[in-house]
Amino acid sequence: MDIMTELRNNILGKGIRIVLPEGNDRRVVLAASVLSRSNMVKPIVLGKRDEILATVEEAGGFPLDGCELIDPEDYAGIEEMIAEFVKVRKGKIDEATARELIKDVNYFGTMLVHMELADGLVSGAVHSTGDTIRPALQIIRTKPGITKTFGYFAMLKEAKRRYIFADCAVNPDPSSEDLAEFAVEAAGAARMFNIDPKVALLSFSTHGSAKTPSTEKVAGAVKILDEMDDLNFEYDGELQFDAALVEGVGKLKAPNSPVAGQANVFIFPDLNTGNIGYKIAQRLGGYEAVGPILAGLNKPVNDLSRGCSADDVYNTVVITANQTLGIYDV
Ligand code: ACO
Repeated sequence: MDIMTELRNNILGKGIRIVLPEGNDRRVVLAASVLSRSNMVKPIVLGKRDEILATVEEAGGFPLDGCELIDPEDYAGIEEMIAEFVKVRKGKIDEATARELIKDVNYFGTMLVHMELADGLVSGAVHSTGDTIRPALQIIRTKPGITKTFGYFAMLKEAKRRYIFADCAVNPDPSSEDLAEFAVEAAGAARMFNIDPKVALLSFSTHGSAKTPSTEKVAGAVKILDEMDDLNFEYDGELQFDAALVEGVGKLKAPNSPVAGQANVFIFPDLNTGNIGYKIAQRLGGYEAVGPILAGLNKPVNDLSRGCSADDVYNTVVITANQTLGIYDV
C-alpha cells in the first residue's frame, strides 16, 4: 500500500475538521468537495457563500454538501473570537487591531483552530508563506519544549524511497539549538511516513574534515542531541550528503557512524540549503515533494504553494488531518 493510501485510511470517517480559508479558489473548493464526499475530513470553507458557490460553478459545478461554509463577515461568534484573540496575544494587540486583523481569513481560520472549533488549517493557494503561517506562529504557537516551528518535505519516489528534508521553508539561519530541535521533531515526522528515522545533520564537512562557523554550528547541534535523554532514534553529524546517503562513502568517511550510508532524515544547516536541496531532488531527481509540512506547532497548520493543484490541496489536507492524531510525536 502506498503511503498516501495509508494516510487516507488513518483518517477515514473520523470527521476531522480542517479549515480551508481560501473558499474563492477553484482548486480549494474542488479539493473540499472530494474530501467531504469521500468522508476523508469535514472541510470548513471560509468566504462569502455566493462567492464560494460562484467559484464552484465556474469550476464546473460539484456538490459541497458535506462542507461547512462560514462567512467571517457574518459570523455569530465574532465578538467572543475577538476577545479571545486579544487574550491569546497577551497585550501585543488591542481590540481595534484584533477587529481589523480578524478580517483576514487566515487569522479568522487560525482562531477557529485555536478555539477548538476546527482541528487544523490548510491555506496558501492564494496567500504567501509568511501571511499563511504568521497567524499560526502568533496564536497556535509551538508545543511545550519547542521554540521554533519549521517546514519539512517528505520526498517520495517509488514505494520504498522515502526521505524527510528539513527545514526547507521557515527559518533562514537556525542556531545549533534550533537544528537539534528540528532533528527531534523531524524524526517524529518520519514515523508518519513509515520511515524508521536515521537522522543526518548535514554540512559540507564530515566529522571535522573542515572547521568553519557553519560546520561547527552543525557539530554543536549534535552535541546538544548527545546531552538529551531518551532519544529513540539514531542520529549523527556533521555529515556530508554523500556520506549520509551512500553506504560506500559513509563507510569511508564516517566508519563508526550509526547513520552514515543509511540516513533517511536530512537536517539542512540553513534555509538556503534546505530549500534549494529539496527542489534539486524534486526537479532533477524526480522525487515527489510532499509539503512543506509545518512541525512543532500545538495544532497543525500547513502552507500550500501558490502553484499548487487541487491534488496538492487534497494531499496536504490528508497530511494535516493525520497530524491532528498526535501519534507521531517523539
Ligand atoms: N517558530 C515559532 N515562532 C516563530 C518563528 C518560528 N520559526 N518565527 C517567528 N515566530 C514568532 C515570533 O516569535 C513572533 O511571535 P510574537 O509576535 O508573539 O512575538 C511571531 O512569530 C512573529 O514573528 P516575526 O519575526 O515578526 O514574524 P515574521 O512575520 O517577520 O516572520 C516568517 C515569520 C514569515 C516565518 C519568516 O521567518 C519568513 O518569512 N520565513 C521564510 C519563509 C519563506 O519565504 N520560505 C520559503 C518559501 S516556502 C517554500 O519554498 C517551500
